[in-house]
Amino acid sequence: MPQVTFRKGEEEFSEAVADNTNLVVRAGIKKFPWPHLRYGCGMGKCGKCACRVLDGAESLAEPNWKEQKVLGEKLAEGLRLACQLWIVNDITLTQDGVPLPSPVKP
Ligand code: FES
Repeated sequence: MPQVTFRKGEEEFSEAVADNTNLVVRAGIKKFPWPHLRYGCGMGKCGKCACRVLDGAESLAEPNWKEQKVLGEKLAEGLRLACQLWIVNDITLTQDGVPLPSPVKP
């Protein structure tokens, strides 16, 4: 089971989750990392769930077209959309310092 660590400020939250877990789906049913994770649409449109991957990025699938559209150059800075990630290995994330995106044009 992957260990997910979510850093927020001086605090660190960590929990083992089932293979192939989506953190926004879990937060939506008030499971880890709720209430710490900022998110919105859950569909790769709003960008509110953008996270900086601090560790474990190599185990993630390549960014899909939604992440490319919403994050653009920020992908190269280590940002990913949590709602588009299916966690299969240990990962450490934060939203500290990750600004809300400007509105995305349809
Ligand atoms: S929650 Fe809206 S893009 Fe992820």
